This record gives sequence, C-alpha cells and structure tokens, in this order.
Amino acid sequence: MQRTPASTSTVALRGAALTMLDDPFTVGDEAAMRYEADALVVIEDGRIAAFGDYRTLAPDLPEGVPVTHHRDALIVPGFIDAHVHYPQTQIIGAGGKRLIDWLNQYTFAAEQQFADREHADLVAEIFLDACLSHGTTTASVYCTVHPQSVDAFFTAAEARGLRMNAGKTLMDRHAPAALLDTAQSGYDESRALIERWRGRGRLGYTVTPRFAITSTPEQLELAGTLLAENPDAWCQTHISEQRDEVAWIAELFPSRLDYLDVYDHYGLLGPRTLLGHGILLTEREWQRCHDSGTSIVHCPTSNAFLGSGLFDWSMAKKPDRPVSVALATDVGGGTTLSMLATMAAAHQIAQLGGHALSAAKSFYLATRGSAKALQLDDRIGSIAPGLEADLVVLDLAHSPLTRLRMKHCQTIDEVLFMLMTMGDDRAIREVYITGAPLSLGARQASQSDLVVA
Ligand code: GUN
Ligand code: ZN
Repeated sequence: MQRTPASTSTVALRGAALTMLDDPFTVGDEAAMRYEADALVVIEDGRIAAFGDYRTLAPDLPEGVPVTHHRDALIVPGFIDAHVHYPQTQIIGAGGKRLIDWLNQYTFAAEQQFADREHADLVAEIFLDACLSHGTTTASVYCTVHPQSVDAFFTAAEARGLRMNAGKTLMDRHAPAALLDTAQSGYDESRALIERWRGRGRLGYTVTPRFAITSTPEQLELAGTLLAENPDAWCQTHISEQRDEVAWIAELFPSRLDYLDVYDHYGLLGPRTLLGHGILLTEREWQRCHDSGTSIVHCPTSNAFLGSGLFDWSMAKKPDRPVSVALATDVGGGTTLSMLATMAAAHQIAQLGGHALSAAKSFYLATRGSAKALQLDDRIGSIAPGLEADLVVLDLAHSPLTRLRMKHCQTIDEVLFMLMTMGDDRAIREVYITGAPLSLGARQASQSDLVVA
C-alpha cells in the first residue's frame, strides 16, 4: 500500500488508551467505555484524526509521522473541572468553618485582592500551571467581581491555547463593600467582557451570579437578560449547599417555591447552566433540573471540607428523570485541583451515602460527562475523531506503591480504581494541548518571599 506523505502538523501517540463514548449511567459501564490496550491516536492540526488499535491503524499512518510511544501509561482525555474558583487558589485548606462563616472569614478577604490586576495575573498563572500539572485541560471558572480578574484569567488561558470558560462574579449585596457591584454595573461589565472576549481562542463566557444570597432580584433579572441576549454564553452559580444557606434563601425570596425556583424565575436554567453542589435539593427541584436540562455539579472534596453533606446519587439519577451531573474540585472550598483525587472523593462520598459509584462512572464524570454538561462533548472530553486533542498521559508506575499495585491489577476497571485512589499530580506524565506536549514542571516558583507571622 502506498503511504501518503505526512502533513507537517500530523503527530501520533501510541499506548494503552481509555475513553468514554457514551453515558455509563444510561447504557452501563461496559457499553460506554472504550479501552484499547495498544492504541494509536493520530492528531492532525490539533484535532484527533483517528483512534483505534495500533496494528489496524499503523499501516495507514502517513510516512514520516512522528509516533510517541508511551509505555506503562494510559492515554485519556484531558480532565474537566466543572466548577472552580481561581481566586481561591490562595486559600485552599483554610478550614474549620462552615459555608457562610468560611465565605466571610477567608473567601471575601482573598477575593478583594483581585482588584489588583498584577495579583490577578500572578494567581491566574499559578492556577493554570497547577491545573495542567494535575491533568486538567478545561475548567468552568469563577473569577471575582472585578472585571480585571476575568481579563487576567482569559489572557493567561488564551496565551496557552486552552479551552476555558469563566465569568465575572455578580454580587450586589451581603458581602463587603469592596466586593459589591450593582445590578446595572454588573450587567454592563459582564456585557463588555462578553464582547471583548467573544471568538478569542477557545474561551467561553459564563454569566456568574455567585448565588442568590449575594444577588438582589434586580441583579438576577439582569443576569437572565444577559443570557437571553447572549445565547452563546453559559451560566453558573451555587445551589442548596448547606441548611442555613437554604433557610436564608427562603427568607430572601418568600414568594418562590424553593431555591431552584429563584433561578428559574429569572430565566437562569437550561442546558448551558451548571449549578454547584445541590446537596439539599427536593424531588421537585431534581425534576425541574431534568425537565430544563440544567446540570448539577458535584464537588465532593468541598462538600466534605465545608461539612455540607453527602451528594444524593439516588435522587440525581432516578431512572425516570436522570439529571446531568458534572464533577468539580470547587477549590478553595475543595481541597485539591486533582480530578483523580476528586474522582476518589466522589467514590468515597457515594459509599457513605450507600451508593456504589464505579470507576468508569467517576471517570465519565471527570471527562465526557462534564463535557456534556458544558455542551462541549462535540469538542472535548473523549478520544474520538474530530475532537480537540487535549489529552493526558497517566503514569501507571509513578511510585513504588503504584508499580506494586499495578502488578496486581487484572482489569482496566481495577487500573482505573487504583489510579484515582492513589493518583495525584505525580500520576500525570504528559499533557497535550491541541496535540502539543507541555513541558510540565518547567515553571517553578522563583520567589522566596514566604513569611509566617
Ligand atoms: N456559595 C457561594 N459562594 C461560594 C464559594 O465561593 N464556595 C462555595 N463552596 N460555595 C459558595
Ligand atoms: Zn463554588
């Protein structure tokens, strides 16, 4: 067979590879999963051109295409963190409080520093370095109330060619004065950001009312207007994380049926909306999420750290009205940027709730499931022809313990469970962004300015 010469931008990866091609909550784990023990992933112009068994595909590989062979490794789609606050990177592990006190004591203090563009630039760089070194290639990101915090984040993400969604947090009450916008200024600033960043790189704008406690009805109304005027935008906020929060919402919005109905009333629900937490949702609210196509974002390490409670999988995935669920770190309420560790935490929380979450389902949530919740599953979240080549190479033997454990794994399911249970950033051997490998670890903190008072 005559081979065609390679285009200069064609590269290929060889090694074991795992991807989800369907929803395991619907079709079952085996039918949803595609595992190739010896795969070839061909990448052309930053997109996956072919994926399959090496022996089948190799004969058709154009001459001269460089093939990188990853041994003792597993090639997977880049992880997707569906809810994370980059300004809270500096307060991970600030503990001992529940939600409202934690927000007042640590979060609002940290977020005020993002009025300073230089600070925002610095933290955005550190945050994105950390995401990538943990294998996260896409995230849905909360910035602060300051528009410059969004500019800092998008500037850093654009320079790296990343697919990232983010938005300015809207908050016009119940927070320190330095963190408040107004209904009108929040609308104007969000609109200007949407216009400034639309169509640039792989960035997407997310209308981001923090939660209904910190937004007046007027601000929520204008958030709905922003979404109606910008159908390409996403929406993210928090819901039903802790009891006193839900009680406060009932006081603030006495004429609404429940917490979800507040967002519904202002036109904030739909297939491009992601609601963080959803620990205390009622049957009516789950049903309405199903009917409106709204996704709930499960943030297991945050729910444990802030004492929020156990995510209710039996409610989320009732067979007659399943709700789209994504997975996220929720740093800094969450305690890690590792989606592997977050998958492990999701499994642990499910166990505590009497529900067995398989490794395949956890893996789905961190890849294709979150891509689907973001309506980006035609671009990212799987290894399949046509998708953007954001890929991660997991190291199956990154420590003596994992090497030992690997020797006793019999199935890909066991390997996956081992990786998420024992894995963190040390398990990330390589990250490819639109087919280009990153040099992980190239950026190290160069300053020495740590002082403990
Ligand atoms: N609810 C409103 N704001 C926040 C936040 O920053 N983190 C968490 N976990 N919950 C919230
Ligand atoms: Zn959050």
